[in-house]
Amino acid sequence: MLQEKIQQYSEEIERFVPQSYNDVEAFRLKFLVAKGVVRTLFEEFKSVSPDQKRSLGKVLNEFKQAAEQKYQHLHEQFASNKQTSKKKAEADLTLPGEGFVFGSRHPLSLVRKEIVEIFKKLGFIVAEGPEIEDDWHNFTALNFPPEHPARDMQDTFFIKKQQGNDIALRTHTSSVQVRMMENGEPPFRAIMPGRVYRNEAISARAHCFFHQVEGLYVDKDVSFADLKQTLYYFVQELFGEDTKVRFRPSYFPFTEPSAEMDISCTICKGKGCAMCKGTGWVEILGCGMVDPNVLENCGIDSAIYSGFAFGMGIERITNLKYEIRDLRLFSENDVRFLSQFETELI
Ligand code: DAH
Repeated sequence: MLQEKIQQYSEEIERFVPQSYNDVEAFRLKFLVAKGVVRTLFEEFKSVSPDQKRSLGKVLNEFKQAAEQKYQHLHEQFASNKQTSKKKAEADLTLPGEGFVFGSRHPLSLVRKEIVEIFKKLGFIVAEGPEIEDDWHNFTALNFPPEHPARDMQDTFFIKKQQGNDIALRTHTSSVQVRMMENGEPPFRAIMPGRVYRNEAISARAHCFFHQVEGLYVDKDVSFADLKQTLYYFVQELFGEDTKVRFRPSYFPFTEPSAEMDISCTICKGKGCAMCKGTGWVEILGCGMVDPNVLENCGIDSAIYSGFAFGMGIERITNLKYEIRDLRLFSENDVRFLSQFETELI
C-alpha cells in the first residue's frame, strides 16, 4: 500500500510543471507542510511491518528528497520572476513616463527639402525616376553616343549587359529628364531629386553613390536669360541675397550651349579661403540649353520648343551650408554626426 502511494506521488512530482509561482506554492502546500503528503507518508511508515521497514525506509527517504529538491529548484526559478512582478506592482504609477527620443532629419534630406521648396515657388513640380536605368535613358538619349569619350567620366556599376541597351545604376538624374519628356507633352517644369552612382574609389571627396537634383524647363521661347534668372533666384533664396553668381562656358553632351555656375564663396564671402581654394568662388552646378538632339530623341519638336536644364550635387550644397568636409560622414550613420542636425527646422 505505502509503496504504491510513494510510487504514484513520485510520478506526480516528476510530471509537475508549474505555470506560475502560485503553482509552485501549491506544490509546497501539498507536499511539504506539516500535514502535507511527505509527513503523512512518514506517519504511515510507522505502522509498516518491521521486515518491510528497511527497503521502504530507503524509498521513502528518496521520495522526500526528490520532493524537496524539486521545490527548491522551482522556487529559485520562479522567485526572480516573482520579484519583478512584485516590483511592477509596487511601481509608483504617478511618476512621469520614460521619455523617448525622436530622430532627426539627415542633413542631405534637409537640404533636398530646402531646394525643392524654392523651386516649388517657381512652379516646378517634383518628378522621380528609377535608380536602375538602361543605357538609352542614362546615355544615348542624352546625346552620349556609344563609345563617346564623355561616357568615360561617368563609369558606373553594370547590372546586365544586353544588346545596345545595358542595364546599370544611373550616373546622374538627367535620365529622369528623358523619361519625363518621352512620357508627356510640353511644357515641362520639374525638378528631379535622387540618388546616383559612379564607379569611384571612396574618399573624403568622392563616393560611389551621392545625390543630385536635376532641373528641366521646356516650353516655347525659353531662353538662356530664363535659365540665368531662375538659378540666380534659387541661389539668393538658398544662400542669401548677397550671394553672387557667375557662369563659365563648359561642355555637356545634352546641352548646347553649356555652362558651369559658380557662386561667391559662402564661407569667406569671396575673400578667399580653404573651401574656395583662395579663389572666392565655388562651383555648384552644371547647366545649359537642352540640345535639340535630346528634344528630338524624346519626341519633341525642337523647331517649336526649347528649354534649359541644370543639375547639382546635394552633398556639395550641404558642404557649403554646413561645412562638412568629408563625404563619408553622410553615409556612415554615426549618431554623433547626425544628432548635430536635431535643431534644424524641418
Ligand atoms: N548630369 C550632369 C552630371 O552629372 C549634371 C548636369 C549638367 C545636368 C548640365 C544638367 C545639365 O541637366 O544641364 O555631371
